[in-house]
Amino acid sequence: MKLILLGPPGAGKGTQAAKIAERYSLAHISTGDMLRAEIASETPLGIRAKALIEAGELVPDDIIIGMVENRIQQPDCENGFLLDGFPRTIAQAESLMEFSDIDRAVCIEVPDESIVDRMARRRVCPDCKRTYSVDIDEGDEFYCSECGARLVARDDDKPETVRHRLEVYAEQTFPLIEFFDGKALLSRIDGSGTVEEVAQNIFDLFEEKDPYWEDDVDC
Ligand code: AP5
Repeated sequence: MKLILLGPPGAGKGTQAAKIAERYSLAHISTGDMLRAEIASETPLGIRAKALIEAGELVPDDIIIGMVENRIQQPDCENGFLLDGFPRTIAQAESLMEFSDIDRAVCIEVPDESIVDRMARRRVCPDCKRTYSVDIDEGDEFYCSECGARLVARDDDKPETVRHRLEVYAEQTFPLIEFFDGKALLSRIDGSGTVEEVAQNIFDLFEEKDPYWEDDVDC
């Protein structure tokens, strides 16, 4: 399978991508994670990307397209891959369709109010990179349950940056829904349930079961 996960910032793409990649043995390709690794290594690309990411802007198409085109040629992508955070513009989508054949694009839909709340709760482990949703009423010190490191908020999760990211999404990424719908590749998933409910609906979609089938049986 060659899959794309679409959806606004904080929709749960990274959370669901990890589950999908594990279940179907796919390479999980997150352009956000790739850029954050460049930032951590202080490469020229990382230094350029840092300012853009912290401002909630997109990194230029030519950089991202080249990065993904190289990445999907790696041996771990032979069994298929899952793109998380790419494409994000029509130019990126058009290039992707030229250098790869995509089987399905899944859009995780979540209302803006829930997104602002999710971003306020998101903390990440600076060491093992796990993502958590914390209870912010319980203080501001949280630790990774896997490696014990103190969790941190992402620099681009400040409320004003989240609002700008949502505007950028609406302007530049939302049109991709029509783009992939027009190619009969799009499926939409309600992302407002629990992590496990959303994952199950995605698995049912791939495995061609109706997620509401069990309810129908009683009728
Ligand atoms: P990126 O890291 O890709 O950010 P994003 O797309 O904005 O998405 P997020 O990582 O913020 O959220 P997510 O949907 O993965 O949600 P998550 O699972 O973490 O990109 C960052 C930046 O890099 C971009 O702004 C841009 O500058 C640059 N960039 C990246 N790709 C680019 C590209 N292709 N072109 C140009 N620039 C690019 O979940 C969020 C929180 O909610 C977590 O705390 C999680 O635990 C919680 N949560 C998840 N699911 C649920 C649920 N069902 N119920 C309750 N809480 C949930």
